[in-house]
Amino acid sequence: MKKMAIILAAGKGTRMKSDLPKVLHEVNGKPMVQHLIDKLERIGMDRIVVVVGHGAGQVKEKVRGNVEFVSQVEQLGTGHAVMQTSSLLEKEEGLTLVLTGDTPLIEEDTITRLMDYHMEKEAKGTVLTTNHFNPTGYGRILKGEDDHVIGIVEEKDANTEQKRIQEVNTGIFCFDNRALFESLPLLDNQNVQGEYYLTDIVSLFLLKSYEFESFLLFDNEQMLGVNSRVQLAEAERVLRKRINEKHMNNGVTMIDPLNTYIGEDVVIGANTIIYPNVTLNQITVIGENVVIESGSVITNSIIGNNSIIKQSVIMDSHLGNDVQVGPFAHIRPQTVIHNGAKVGNFVELKKTVLGEGSKANHLSYLGDSIIGEGVNIGCGTITVNYDGKHKHQTIIEDEAFVGCNANLIAPVKIGKGAVIAAGSTITKDVPKNSLGVARSRQEIKKGYKSRTTQS
Ligand code: UD1
Ligand code: CA
Repeated sequence: MKKMAIILAAGKGTRMKSDLPKVLHEVNGKPMVQHLIDKLERIGMDRIVVVVGHGAGQVKEKVRGNVEFVSQVEQLGTGHAVMQTSSLLEKEEGLTLVLTGDTPLIEEDTITRLMDYHMEKEAKGTVLTTNHFNPTGYGRILKGEDDHVIGIVEEKDANTEQKRIQEVNTGIFCFDNRALFESLPLLDNQNVQGEYYLTDIVSLFLLKSYEFESFLLFDNEQMLGVNSRVQLAEAERVLRKRINEKHMNNGVTMIDPLNTYIGEDVVIGANTIIYPNVTLNQITVIGENVVIESGSVITNSIIGNNSIIKQSVIMDSHLGNDVQVGPFAHIRPQTVIHNGAKVGNFVELKKTVLGEGSKANHLSYLGDSIIGEGVNIGCGTITVNYDGKHKHQTIIEDEAFVGCNANLIAPVKIGKGAVIAAGSTITKDVPKNSLGVARSRQEIKKGYKSRTTQS
């Protein structure tokens, strides 16, 4: 059966008090609407149509995936929003999901179960519902004597008795496509808000004796509709909890999961320990037995097993096993740190390869460099890689020893086993096993003190 989805994303989101369209507000670094699209793509829909209106240009530009857009120029309600998809979808046969763009926490499994239930019951429409202790703001599910849904009433239209109902509309529906599009033109706007409510479709279906079902989900956290910044923070909290619990269940220790920020796609090996206030972003893969201390931010990087990262920032880089980084190191893009290498405090690496077992323990800048195995980079070493126009490469071969406070003016090559004297400014290649010294000789002026103090 053909499966389609309509995501309603045209509203302004007045309660957000923001210039950014509501559905572009991010939860865990991803726009709310994108969370839905990604899930629908993983489920495998034949068509995904996004209804855009407020900030349409911004939404279209930001959204990724195989989706079609339709415009709702005036936002006259959720039913009106679905009507705008008629030109694209009304002739289709199959099943159509309707989702509100502001419910980013809904899980794939829930959507799949909703569709299965809908098909199993051979219903023309099914609404996903949940129970809330505080149902304020949500549409309430009205049920007849046989516990069958007979309507949905919005908060603003509900009487006192209806307001007490705790079963609410999540905003997610499954429809027989034909039944949906034949009923939409019959919606009216005779309600407190003067809007065309999608929720009124229930009574229209029942008038035609179309089977309309409700599917109750117990986990009401998934249904959170984000209408305000408070709910946005709540969504963030729920998603964080979900992600962190998954990792903890896989054997990762988190000292304070409430203050640990991990992107959806991050992979973490067992027995790794993560301290509070760590952020792991994008496609980051952390090995087993790794320790990541407070304040570290790791983006789009790979860290091998048994490595230790202390208060450091790592981006677009690849670290091997048994590597130590920090405290306060900055590992910039395209850096590769091989097994057992060590990068200490206040060291910056950019587009640099640091070979196995090599050490840069203190206060250095290593950029555009290829550093071999067993190399010692002394405190304060700088690769002078930029001449104001171009970047140049520094090569330091295996077992070389660079003394403290050396400037290596690139392009330059330090041969295998070579030694660079402390304080040298090296401008020429140093052959293997040689000493490169480039500093003025020390002079001694005997009796200098007595000369300067006597008049
Ligand atoms: C809606 C439901 C309510 C449900 C709640 C769940 C209706 C009438 N009400 O209420 O029963 O409990 O969601 O979260 O359906 N939108 C458009 N065009 C419009 C109006 C809205 O695209 O003209 C989009 C919005 O961008 C938003 C979604 O539809 O993503 C829901 O609209 P919103 O105003 O947030 O509806 P609620 O009042 O939350
Ligand atoms: Ca809403």
